[in-house]
Amino acid sequence: MPQKLLFVCLGNICRSPSAENIMNHLIQREGLSDQIICDSAGTSSYHIGSSPDRRMAAAASKRGITLEGQARQFHPEDFEKFDLILAMDKENYRDILTLDLKGQYRDKVKLMCNFCRHHADQEVPDPYYGGAEGFNYVIDLLLDACEGLLERMKDKG
Ligand code: 4NP
Repeated sequence: MPQKLLFVCLGNICRSPSAENIMNHLIQREGLSDQIICDSAGTSSYHIGSSPDRRMAAAASKRGITLEGQARQFHPEDFEKFDLILAMDKENYRDILTLDLKGQYRDKVKLMCNFCRHHADQEVPDPYYGGAEGFNYVIDLLLDACEGLLERMKDKG
């Protein structure tokens, strides 16, 4: 059975679609596409159906990554469907756990930055109201975290 990963942020138009597409890029490069499946979602309903933010897509394309997908909202059924749920920041983490009414899925939910090997950040900062440098930083931070996550998954087989 493939491992299923769900990346979660607030709007599902900036950080989590970037994480999903970066992870898919690394997975394809390593020939692991039949072993790891990725998706993303937002805790809010603000942007349901929207494509990734243009500014985020521009930053990703500078690193050779194309952002695909349409925003959807995180749903409690995702707790069963996914093996690992990766929150971009602490607010996302709390909002996800609030939906885990019995606390039975706690161990599946992690902060994305736990997997960084080169950055000390604890959260992937929300770039939405900032400038281009914020979007570039998100891509570099997520590349670090996704590489660390993939290595961890390969170690665990
Ligand atoms: P994301 O960024 O959570 O990384 O997709 C945001 C997108 C939209 C908003 C905030 C953050 N918003 O307030 O609409």
